[in-house]
Amino acid sequence: MDTQTCTPGPRMPLWAWIAVGGPMAFYTILGIAEGESYYRIPVRFLGIASLVFLVLGLAITPAAKLLARPGLTPWRRWLGLWAFAYAVAHTVVYAFNVHIWHWSLPRYWRYPYLVYGIIALLLAIPLAVTSNAASMRKLGFTAWKRLHLLTYPVIVLTLIHYTLPLYRWNLVAYYWAVTALLVGWRLVQGLSRPSGRLAKSWSRRAPAFERTE
Ligand code: HEM
Repeated sequence: MDTQTCTPGPRMPLWAWIAVGGPMAFYTILGIAEGESYYRIPVRFLGIASLVFLVLGLAITPAAKLLARPGLTPWRRWLGLWAFAYAVAHTVVYAFNVHIWHWSLPRYWRYPYLVYGIIALLLAIPLAVTSNAASMRKLGFTAWKRLHLLTYPVIVLTLIHYTLPLYRWNLVAYYWAVTALLVGWRLVQGLSRPSGRLAKSWSRRAPAFERTE
């Protein structure tokens, strides 16, 4: 039985809703309104923004630990939710312009990068749905934490989705490098037992909901 208690994370200030939600709404509307002649720029913008939020979400725990700022950790939830919202907008703009719902299954297989994108999006759904304190309580901390390991396949599938068309390999390489660094850091952390001043100050200062690494 899990004994962790859950408190809601921080509230996002209005300016942040506007700063993050505004460009998403703008590019979604533009991508749908402008139609086939222009949709690629909004699709790319929304896809890149989603990937950046995913990578930032992964960077939160190392940053919180290295800077000894456990208060940063709950922001991971917002980053994950915005990554999901942008991924949905990215897909909607593309689907709306290309009418993928008319496609037959073999047509999808001609574009494997799309298949990776679709799997990434499907795997992200349970993460978005359970990103609240009530789900954490219901599932229990251990099961919730295990479920949220799906973040790693989501980000790797997204990177494959981005890499396969291979038209901007140099740019994609940076995302692979940063992700590999962050995943490597987590693996090393998982293998080594917490000790020392930083770990002690971490466990003393972090409320239960924040100890979700
Ligand atoms: C978690 C889900 C997803 C994420 C994070 C994501 C992210 C990305 C990223 C980073 C790119 C590269 C953008 C660029 O070249 O500058 C991209 C490209 C693209 N994605 Fe996704 N994607 C996801 C799911 C999907 C799905 C489900 C579809 C459609 C069914 C899709 C359709 C596309 C298309 C068509 C492109 C190429 C756009 C172009 O170069 O013109 N993506 N995506």
